[in-house]
Amino acid sequence: MITFQNVSKSYGRKLVLDNLSFEIKEGQFVILIGPSGCGKTTTLKMINRLVKPDSGEIYINGINIMEQNPVELRRGIGYVIQQIGLFPNMTVEQNISVVPKLLKYPKERWQSIVRELLEMVNMPYEEYAHKYPSELSGGQQQRIGVLRALAASPPIVLMDEPFGALDPITRDALQEEVKKLQKKLKKTIVFVTHDMEEALRLADTIVFMDNGRILQMASPEEMLRNPASDIIKEFMGRHINSRGPAELYVEDVMRTRVLKVPKTLKVLECLDRMDRWEVNSVIVLNEDDTYAGTVQLEAIQEHGKVGHEIGELVSQDTPTVSRQCKAQEVLDQLLDSPYKYLVVLNDDRTVAGLITRTSLTKAIGEALWGAKS
Ligand SMILES: Nc1ncnc2c1ncn2[C@@H]1O[C@H](COP(=O)(O)OP(=O)(O)OP(=O)(O)O)[C@@H](O)[C@H]1O
Ligand SMILES: [Mg+2]
Repeated sequence: MITFQNVSKSYGRKLVLDNLSFEIKEGQFVILIGPSGCGKTTTLKMINRLVKPDSGEIYINGINIMEQNPVELRRGIGYVIQQIGLFPNMTVEQNISVVPKLLKYPKERWQSIVRELLEMVNMPYEEYAHKYPSELSGGQQQRIGVLRALAASPPIVLMDEPFGALDPITRDALQEEVKKLQKKLKKTIVFVTHDMEEALRLADTIVFMDNGRILQMASPEEMLRNPASDIIKEFMGRHINSRGPAELYVEDVMRTRVLKVPKTLKVLECLDRMDRWEVNSVIVLNEDDTYAGTVQLEAIQEHGKVGHEIGELVSQDTPTVSRQCKAQEVLDQLLDSPYKYLVVLNDDRTVAGLITRTSLTKAIGEALWGAKS
């Protein structure tokens, strides 16, 4: 939907954009990232013609934007600038309704838009619509900046480091909101940031720029797995150490703290251990420590006899997997199966650990977004 073809730009003798070509598909969340001065803002501003290329073409929906009236063009493009930029002498409602009013929407229409948008970000109309920006927190001002860009429902929204100045908690909350809004309203978003964590979290596609060129354009998973250069690796920082979800093996995602008991253990003693571990099933081992099977609490309650050995109740129903299996392969197995976990075995059939839904989800989350320190 947005196509750059051999776009270059210089300021004086400095080449700021060097023959950029790329394409953004409709409905995608695309993030431009890279060091300060690499040309992110310049690229963004070309999309709504605030900056003109020296050479090359930019197309939106197949139409060369230089052949379009700039005012018309900008109506279809929301823009959130680097420093919020709310009009200080206007209320929240007036700020959000600027573009709808320019487009001559009737009053009832723009008022209901304002109301709806404020509701989407949990800022009730009655409480906030008539406040001035100076009466809002930084995070609230940012929200209004985002809403203003969305008010006329443009298919494309450009956002230039919209959350740069926020504390981490507010930033997290706003990232969530923007991602939800994008999914719900199906916008094409081009978003600039310095922050790789933000990029990995939000983007469908990341465009990594350096010195006016694109070093890599890829999905977050792909960039984590195969960063195209050292500077990208550096930006990834701690994220690079964790592998993408496709690279995870069972042994990376299993839990190793698991209750294991010998076959010969008496039922009563076994119940006592399960109680202390707060679990409702155990792994049972043969004399040579190899895997014998599992016993569920219900089986003990139904068939257990106090003086008997736990080995009598063993079942082999719980699926087992090898620790060298790909995590991705066991994901479906776990999600589709009625079992709450899978037993992970070493090559010699001793027990390595368990995979639970929680352990798997957590590991995939860490691979995608980096371990929370
Ligand atoms: N109006 C201008 N006149 C002269 N030089 C400019 C102008 N705008 C940008 N530049 C230069 O162009 C280069 C790219 O600037 P741009 O604002 O696109 O960088 P950026 O990647 O957005 O950086 P940041 O992360 O710091 O916002 C920089 O070297 C900058 O100094
Ligand atoms: Mg910038």
